[in-house]
Amino acid sequence: MLRTRFTEEFGVEHPIVQGGMQWVGRAELVAAVANSGALGMLTALTQPTPEDLVKEIARCRDLTDKPFGVNLTILPTITPPPYAEYRQAIVESGIRVVETAGSNPAEQLAAFQPAGVKVIHKCTSVRHALKAQQLGVDAVSIDGFECAGHPGEDDIPGLVLIPRAADELDIPIIASGGIADARGLVAALALGADGVNMGTRFMCTAESPIHDAVKQRLTEADERETELIFRPLRNTARVASNSVSREVVEKLDAGAGFEDVRELVAGARGREVYERGDTELGIWSAGMVQGLIDDVPTVDELVTRIVGQARELIEGRLARTIGG
Ligand SMILES: Cc1cc2nc3c(=O)[nH]c(=O)nc-3n(C[C@H](O)[C@H](O)[C@H](O)COP(=O)(O)O)c2cc1C
Repeated sequence: MLRTRFTEEFGVEHPIVQGGMQWVGRAELVAAVANSGALGMLTALTQPTPEDLVKEIARCRDLTDKPFGVNLTILPTITPPPYAEYRQAIVESGIRVVETAGSNPAEQLAAFQPAGVKVIHKCTSVRHALKAQQLGVDAVSIDGFECAGHPGEDDIPGLVLIPRAADELDIPIIASGGIADARGLVAALALGADGVNMGTRFMCTAESPIHDAVKQRLTEADERETELIFRPLRNTARVASNSVSREVVEKLDAGAGFEDVRELVAGARGREVYERGDTELGIWSAGMVQGLIDDVPTVDELVTRIVGQARELIEGRLARTIGG
């Protein structure tokens, strides 16, 4: 057992979180994560309507008796989803933990805190983490530059970002980005984190509800095969390198605007990658950590392995460095 402030305050067995993942964070994966003793997050906006989210929460409860959370990501978008209704669905379904991401969490906190829902806010900088703490979130999850999805614009990797955050914050910190195994977990704890959040690693598990060909691609890809799209628009996202993401980077670097790449980056195309298993069909998220992933274990095998090896690492190799 690895006990931290996070496991104690959030009532989970292991200091491991499966972060929200668009099109991936569905009941099968989240329930498997919960059953393994880690904390899984359903991804609210993967469900087309708040009513569908209510059904997905119920489906997840059919698959596990353990607690799980919901991610609600608020990113700049042309036609915003009905966020308030998603929040209402989460609260009325009795969810006890929410992962917020993408923007200042004030509006989200106003809905969740009076209902007794704990909020883990995911951000990418110390200043945003401090702001979230000041607003009253219960924990922060901090994504380093390595992460899949939105790393922000500061480009600070976890090795600097996590200890910087630990120096400044009082609330529990979850280190996120670039973590796939026991080495990452132990390093994160040493840097001052109270737990870790993993995306890409959980995406590449048996229960992850995406096509096997995408998982296969993750096991083959190395750490250099990601692209940072939308850099010139200051809305950077780290995604798998393929012909589509490389074309988007090229066009935007050459001065194109969002309208010129809109069709290439369409969410529906990305979703088809996961459904049809053709990794060249559209944009899909993956982190540098894919270079450390070379198998597709069940979630339980993965979590058991990480926790077991973390203990061996602390009691063995690290303890031995304290020579007599
Ligand atoms: C396929 C995929 C989809 C993601 N979608 C979201 C999302 O909708 N909201 C969010 O807050 N983070 C999203 N993320 C980011 C993860 O929650 C997590 O912060 C990130 O993957 C950590 O980096 P790692 O992949 O190196 O572990 C996504 C990540 C992946 C791999």
